[in-house]
Amino acid sequence: MQKDLGNYRKTYEKNALSEDSISDNPMELFQKWFYEVETTEGVDEPNAMTISTKGLDGYPKNRIVLLKKYTEEGFIFYTNYESEKGRAIAKDPKICLSFFWPNMERQVIVKGKAEKLAPNLSDGYFESRPEGSKLGAIVSHQSNVIPSRETLEQKLEQLEKIYRGKEIPRPDYWGGFLVRPVSIEFWQGRPNRLHDRIRYQLQENYDWKMERLAP
Ligand SMILES: Cc1cc2nc3c(=O)[nH]c(=O)nc-3n(C[C@H](O)[C@H](O)[C@H](O)COP(=O)(O)O)c2cc1C
Repeated sequence: MQKDLGNYRKTYEKNALSEDSISDNPMELFQKWFYEVETTEGVDEPNAMTISTKGLDGYPKNRIVLLKKYTEEGFIFYTNYESEKGRAIAKDPKICLSFFWPNMERQVIVKGKAEKLAPNLSDGYFESRPEGSKLGAIVSHQSNVIPSRETLEQKLEQLEKIYRGKEIPRPDYWGGFLVRPVSIEFWQGRPNRLHDRIRYQLQENYDWKMERLAP
């Protein structure tokens, strides 16, 4: 079986990224880009990002999670701390996040260190979730092998009965990670494959060094 995809070709020409029009602070540029992406047609889940961890088996692994907040400090997502990614981060907190926003022909790549969010902040987010999502987090021992889909549904049914009319507590194995960036790279597609790439790297004095990279 084979399929030649060589004819998939696209010219990128929607935007440009130039040093004189951007902030010294990459989080400000991230905020500007995110706003432009979410307010431009053609994006479904602008906060979906790929996170890459180095697994306990030595292989890198990527998967999508949802960015739930970004601040001056970094990027926050929620997951099961005992999942494959949770265990990988516990062993090696250096991870990579990336966003691909085709509607603006943009990519952002973040390298940083992940740390568990303070429990009260995870509690606050957990409380804001719909009941079904709360119970789902309790039911699913994420990344474990399970015998069937039915076991999940039975467990959900049991929990729905147990917690009817009651507050659903956040399980301590579920919560947020804050990823503190050390490097953020912005890629803007341009014509003739001469794309713009600007990388910010965190210096020892906590200033950001900005450099242009060859496409
Ligand atoms: C659009 C999308 C959003 C997702 N959001 C999350 C999320 O916010 N948190 C999460 O733990 N998993 C999320 N997932 C599922 C993960 O991709 C992954 O399957 C799961 O976290 C288990 O990964 P692991 O076994 O490598 O730990 C999402 C998947 C997709 C496709």
